[in-house]
Amino acid sequence: MNLRSGRLDKKMTKGAAEYTSSLEADKKIFESDIKCNFAHVLMLKNEKIIDDEVADKILEALTKLKDEGFDALTFDHSVEDIHMAIENYVTDMVGIGIAGFMHTAKSRNDQVATDIRLTLRGKIIEIQLNILEFIEGIVKLAEEHKETVTIGYTHLQHAQPITIAHNFMAYAQALKRDYQRLADTYKRVNQNPLGSAAMTTTSFPINRELTTKLLGFDSYLENSMDGVSARDFIAETVFDLATLCTSLSKMCEEMVLWSTYEFGIIEMADEFSSTSSIMPQKKNPDVAEVARAKSTVVNGELITIMTILKAIPYTYNRDLQEITPHLWNSIKVANDTLKIVSDMVLSVTINKERCLELAGANFGTVTDLADVMVRERNIPFRTAHKIVGRLVNLCIEMDLEIGDVDSGFIDGIANDLGFDKLKLSNDLIKKALDPLENVKMRQVPGGPSPEMVQLACNNMKNFLKEEYAKKGVEN
Ligand code: ARG
Repeated sequence: MNLRSGRLDKKMTKGAAEYTSSLEADKKIFESDIKCNFAHVLMLKNEKIIDDEVADKILEALTKLKDEGFDALTFDHSVEDIHMAIENYVTDMVGIGIAGFMHTAKSRNDQVATDIRLTLRGKIIEIQLNILEFIEGIVKLAEEHKETVTIGYTHLQHAQPITIAHNFMAYAQALKRDYQRLADTYKRVNQNPLGSAAMTTTSFPINRELTTKLLGFDSYLENSMDGVSARDFIAETVFDLATLCTSLSKMCEEMVLWSTYEFGIIEMADEFSSTSSIMPQKKNPDVAEVARAKSTVVNGELITIMTILKAIPYTYNRDLQEITPHLWNSIKVANDTLKIVSDMVLSVTINKERCLELAGANFGTVTDLADVMVRERNIPFRTAHKIVGRLVNLCIEMDLEIGDVDSGFIDGIANDLGFDKLKLSNDLIKKALDPLENVKMRQVPGGPSPEMVQLACNNMKNFLKEEYAKKGVEN
């Protein structure tokens, strides 16, 4: 069947046909296009817009194609896209006298928008399930490391003690939001454009409720011009994926740092490391590095999509076709990165001794010494801050460790600064400066104490349970 033979005398040049073809990316919507055609023809039959026998023959051909798969289609460069290839297949099967009715009250414009949404639904769910699996692994790891204290950083300088569990649960919280963002986007993906036809619906009495139901959409789009031109659901999905990739890239960055000799907090599994061709001692975190770089591709795709969208007039313009491959690429990069980063992160070995060493070093616990002064002696926090700041200064000057500090030393500084002696007990001072005690004292929800982290883990496990149940997955 040659679509052009009516209006156009000449064939497109091979170059022009190839340049404008969407066939490569259309492989992704092959099954969805069959589904879309199937629902449309069933509806036409139900509404008595086409004869039962005609409809049944078309449906039979579509079922056969579904069984045979994509390779059953034949292409030459005159076939513009998957929609034409499928119509050609049906035409070859049942003849133009039957197949010619398939496209009644339908356009490739509403068809392609429908197909993309159908395929995307499945992809979003697949990525969401992979996120849940990653979170599950993180919770397990966190529960094993609730008392593994290490140092937390601000400005990449030692700040305050944390636990490995608390750090990993921060990843889990970001991933939870990435999951929820996709769930929210899904609502806007799951709307039916079919019935918009080219741009103004049709004068045939089609039943949009029926195709909406048959295709499992929540509702149909209420404006046909919007129906064929809207691609914000794609931009939104790719934004969600870019944000997910940002979460993953940040984790990779941290794993790369933590695996250095200087940090020494983790060791990467051999399975996710490489060595050097010349330096025999090297163990390089290549997976994390490549993931860090690949995730930026999705940012690029988002900009491309937004830029194509921003200046095209209503309604369908062929530019829209050029958005779709960027969507599929974003999905692939994000999902591949998610899976590999998940496996890599969950296979690291934590060096507990080094963690403890870092937690106690470099004055990371002294915020609590200031807090003890405030609590015990009711002095303003700013006064305590000044005394402790000076104390750290002196320790550095005198080459002392924080463990060398006692009550007398503190009071000497307080006096020098014009404040009263504090007379804190040495036991209290010791406790405040002990990294594990320090962490355990943070009994505020959201904090790093083992109890609060367990609470966060429990809440996360409930979230996982609910979301798996919604998706019909047993866990
Ligand atoms: N390949 C096209 C796309 O992906 C399908 C719709 C073509 N419609 C048209 N009027 N040329 O957007």
